[in-house]
Amino acid sequence: MKIAIFGGTGDLGRGLAINFAAAGHEIVVGSRSQERADSAAETLREALPSGTFTPLENVEAASAGELAIVSIPWEGIEATIPPMADALADKVVISVVNALKFGKSGAIALQGDELPDKSCAHQIQDLAPDARVVVAYNNLPAAGLQAQHHLDADVLICGKSKAARQEVIELTKSIPGARGLDCGPLANALIIEGMTGVIIQLNNRYGGEASLAISGLENAPERP
Ligand SMILES: NC(=O)c1ccc[n+]([C@@H]2O[C@H](COP(=O)([O-])OP(=O)(O)OC[C@H]3O[C@@H](n4cnc5c(N)ncnc54)[C@H](OP(=O)(O)O)[C@@H]3O)[C@@H](O)[C@H]2O)c1
Repeated sequence: MKIAIFGGTGDLGRGLAINFAAAGHEIVVGSRSQERADSAAETLREALPSGTFTPLENVEAASAGELAIVSIPWEGIEATIPPMADALADKVVISVVNALKFGKSGAIALQGDELPDKSCAHQIQDLAPDARVVVAYNNLPAAGLQAQHHLDADVLICGKSKAARQEVIELTKSIPGARGLDCGPLANALIIEGMTGVIIQLNNRYGGEASLAISGLENAPERP
């Protein structure tokens, strides 16, 4: 599948790109700048010579991708999504975006007046109403993805469309040690996004590459 990653130049975007490319997907590396997209695609090719990485500006990437991933800071949503809304119609659009602030006490989930009353994923859905927005990969570590570590992690997946959630569960099998779990509608996305603040605090306190693992599910598949 051809996967467009907006902000594919960043830490998480490159981490996802390398894993999906290693599993045989074609990656469109999106950026606000063709030059930065070129440079990130070159870095990815050096890391994975067998991978296919096509650099494009974000709006062109939206047209080129069969599925898209929004991997930018939350402040960029409002400017980034509207120009590509038509190109994203009917496509699965994964949001990894977390609304966090970073201060003296480390990463904290935005709350109250600081945050519009919706999750980042919900904002993207509002700005691209015909896209099939799904929240996923918010809690995975960029460094571990880039190094293609076996993550032993669960990926919490929410979205309006059950079929879109299932598509992302299947895609998640491309990431070694990651299991996608269906967590229902997009309304739960805000909690998943906020959990990343907790995970960053754990990494800072104890070191390592923390992510989430859910126990006690009788009928869920084993983590690969
Ligand atoms: N890092 C992690 O471990 C991690 C884990 C899980 C989830 N996340 C989430 O994933 C998203 C990306 O994380 P990241 O660490 O890769 O972030 P990042 O490196 O700060 O940003 C990713 C890319 O977004 C683009 N960008 C920056 N500011 C922008 C703006 N105002 N508008 C549009 N695009 C902008 C930049 O690409 P161009 O300049 O090339 O356009 C940048 O390379 C964030 O929402 C983060 O919360 C991160």
